[in-house]
Amino acid sequence: AQAEIGLIGLGVMGSNLALNIAEKGNKIAVFNRTAERTREFYEEAGSLKDQIVPCETIEEFVAAIRPPRPIIIMIKAGDPVDQQMELLKPFLEKNDIMIDAGNANFRDTMRRFDALKDSGLTFIGMGVSGGEEGARHGPSIMVGGKEDSWKRVEKVLTSIAAKYNDEPCVAWLGENGAGHFVKTIHNGIEYADMQMIAEIYGILRDGLNMSATEIGKVFDTWNKGRLNSYLIEISGTVLETADPLTGKPIVDMILDKAGQKGTGKWSVIEAQNMGVPATAIEAAVAARSLSSMKDEREAAEKTLGLPGLSALSVSDRDAFIKDLESALLAGKIGAYAQGFAVMSAASKEFGWNLPMPTIAKIWRAGCIIRSQFLDEITSAFTAAPDAANLIVTPAFSTMVKETDGALRRVVSAAVLAGLPVPALASALGYFDSYRRGRGTANMIQAQRDFFGAHGFDRIDGADNHHGPWGSGLVAGA
Ligand code: 6PG
Repeated sequence: AQAEIGLIGLGVMGSNLALNIAEKGNKIAVFNRTAERTREFYEEAGSLKDQIVPCETIEEFVAAIRPPRPIIIMIKAGDPVDQQMELLKPFLEKNDIMIDAGNANFRDTMRRFDALKDSGLTFIGMGVSGGEEGARHGPSIMVGGKEDSWKRVEKVLTSIAAKYNDEPCVAWLGENGAGHFVKTIHNGIEYADMQMIAEIYGILRDGLNMSATEIGKVFDTWNKGRLNSYLIEISGTVLETADPLTGKPIVDMILDKAGQKGTGKWSVIEAQNMGVPATAIEAAVAARSLSSMKDEREAAEKTLGLPGLSALSVSDRDAFIKDLESALLAGKIGAYAQGFAVMSAASKEFGWNLPMPTIAKIWRAGCIIRSQFLDEITSAFTAAPDAANLIVTPAFSTMVKETDGALRRVVSAAVLAGLPVPALASALGYFDSYRRGRGTANMIQAQRDFFGAHGFDRIDGADNHHGPWGSGLVAGA
């Protein structure tokens, strides 16, 4: 029988995805730029060999797949994807589907999708989350493309996706760039989750002078509570892992410079493009950039010194650690609320009709941000599908009210001690601005009108007024 699906690119992610597909009983044709890697992959496939058709030429590869042929391209994002598609195109037939499973910028996905419009070929932009392990044993999969193309791959993708209570973590989310857009926001939220965890770690390390191992134990405990999630779990494990060279906690031996490949930044750029505040995600991306400026930071510490403020002032240590747990939950709520708000704006902007409860559902397992919390988001959006924002749904408004006091105490204590908490503070600022019916932008409008005659609306209803600036001063001014 012919293969159900094909895959190009036998790097770590591609190989693992191919093995996962084969293991779930789907015959798969594989191809790699270097035939040697294809042979090696096949040799290592052991008992899964029966389900794998290793191919050394594109002709052979395409012929091995049942039409209309779904072909997953799992290579480095960017130009290589365009080049691969060009190489593949001459061999394909009407209705064949090229599937980009890398971390593509959704704007590239939209362009690729459009470029194939009159060719008879179709395209799927597919976000895959869960790292190497996820790809091998069950990722979360976010699909964007034509619904017909989705129907052709639904069975295979459902068989390989992670399961949450037997529900597969894969869904068709909309046309063209929808899947890659949602994956981008997943990553933006991932950045915020990771940054907030790092900020809390910083308070425990530099504020309470706790050792990595002690902090690891705190995270382990939190993982049994409301913060239960993959990132908290691995953070605990990370903190308790020893460096084989020195025997010290390995986290203490790791340079404090974080890398980034662009997806976090894209989510912030798109949020800004649409005028949606995503401050906690922005703070997380900026914190990574600042982290990479290690030399500059060290020089600045010499010039400016650390803020000579009080040591973290904590009267009841246990109560403060409980506050940290609630603060992290509150910060998380802020970041997710922002991520979902960006998706809801994008859904309108790009005409996708993104299904929010489904997105929360397919993030409950398999992906990097998987957590119990996402189950609560699923319920909240299912109960209130038209809510303007996650934080005003009945379930989450209650959670915000329960936890924002702790966030306020933690952010204040950290600020007074000079400990940086940019993402947590941004989440707090977001809550405080979002929930305040009367803000301060009347002052901005007055200034804009003063220097640029931009006009303002009045609270008594009249639109586009201009101020009599300076002419009629208020009595006593
Ligand atoms: C995932 C991850 C994965 C990867 C990103 C993060 O969902 O499985 O997000 O896609 O780790 O590339 O990248 P950076 O931290 O390097 O930007």
